[in-house]
Amino acid sequence: MRGVSFSLENAVITRQQREQVSRAVDILNAGGVVAFPTETVYGLGADATNIKAVSNIYRIKQRPVNHPLIVHIADFSHLAEWAQAIPDAALKLATQFWPGPLTLILKRNRRVSDVVTGGQDTVGIRVPGHPIALALLRSLGPGKALAAPSANRFGRISPTTAAHVQKELGSEVNMILDGGSCTVGLESTIVSFVGDNPKVLRPGGITLAELESAFGASISMMNRVDSSKTRVPGSLPSHYAPTTPLKLCVTEQLWQYAKKLTNRQLKTMVITWSTIQQPPLQQNEYLQYCSMPNDPESYGRELYAILHQLDQAGFDYLLVEMVPDHPSWLAIEDRLQRASHRTI
Ligand code: TXA
Ligand code: MG
Repeated sequence: MRGVSFSLENAVITRQQREQVSRAVDILNAGGVVAFPTETVYGLGADATNIKAVSNIYRIKQRPVNHPLIVHIADFSHLAEWAQAIPDAALKLATQFWPGPLTLILKRNRRVSDVVTGGQDTVGIRVPGHPIALALLRSLGPGKALAAPSANRFGRISPTTAAHVQKELGSEVNMILDGGSCTVGLESTIVSFVGDNPKVLRPGGITLAELESAFGASISMMNRVDSSKTRVPGSLPSHYAPTTPLKLCVTEQLWQYAKKLTNRQLKTMVITWSTIQQPPLQQNEYLQYCSMPNDPESYGRELYAILHQLDQAGFDYLLVEMVPDHPSWLAIEDRLQRASHRTI
């Protein structure tokens, strides 16, 4: 997202982190599963060339095996080891945005296993913009990469801290590398180069405006009907969901709806970005509110952490104010829509 710096050339990690990375490399090379920080969300990584290790990721995540994983590589120069027939436009985006929150869907190199691609002849690839992730990838050895989805159970909220991973999957992974809170906080933008024109499959850390300015042309978004036909789990209507029912509400109806819920003695948390200065209702036994930032970068960075926290707080309802109808809020709106789907 704008405002986040991905210049990592001089990024250093501490000696302690280096030691942990080296332990993680041993575990991964022995076929283990390691959760690691990226700038977007924490990933659950396995050696992408080890079919058994990659299969374990699906088992731990409880994810259907036909849903593909992203291959994380250390550097642009490794792209051709994993993909082929790479269009110039894809190279352009990779050069401009890697390391960073952008995943490219390309025709796969034949050496990439069906287990990684969910049986498809395409592969998702990205270079993460996080010093620990990069140190890990650079240390894995030639021809290696990490197949990694977000480190949460299928359909649940992605983790943005090591503690989130520990809570949900701690007993099942061999190691969790702690890199602090993720700076972007929402998953990568996915752009597919399969088919005639590039298409955005998932809005994320790189905005549409940034993509379009790199292309010098407009780019289309996969719509919801298309996306429910493809195996892109981040595109299933119910995803990124807390267990507490979450309802999205337009600003004009937010407090009216809050009143309805609390009148029924339902413990409700209102999550607002616009009206906290003068909320029209008093907090009481049944009603509380919290204020989110009113710029999309900060909102995106905090969203999952807030949802993780509130999901533990015993509310009957999370009532979320709809975010502004502006392209810079697209990724956030997308995640809120999916988080709310099940419960409306
Ligand atoms: O920011 C991110 O992308 C994080 C970090 C860990 O890198 N990863 C992530 O992975 O969000 P996951 O598996 O939770 O979501 C990746 C999405 C899925 O919706 C998957 O179906 C889609 O990428 N994907 C991967 N390979 C694909 C392919 N060949 N064709 C279409 N979609 C693909
Ligand atoms: Mg995910």
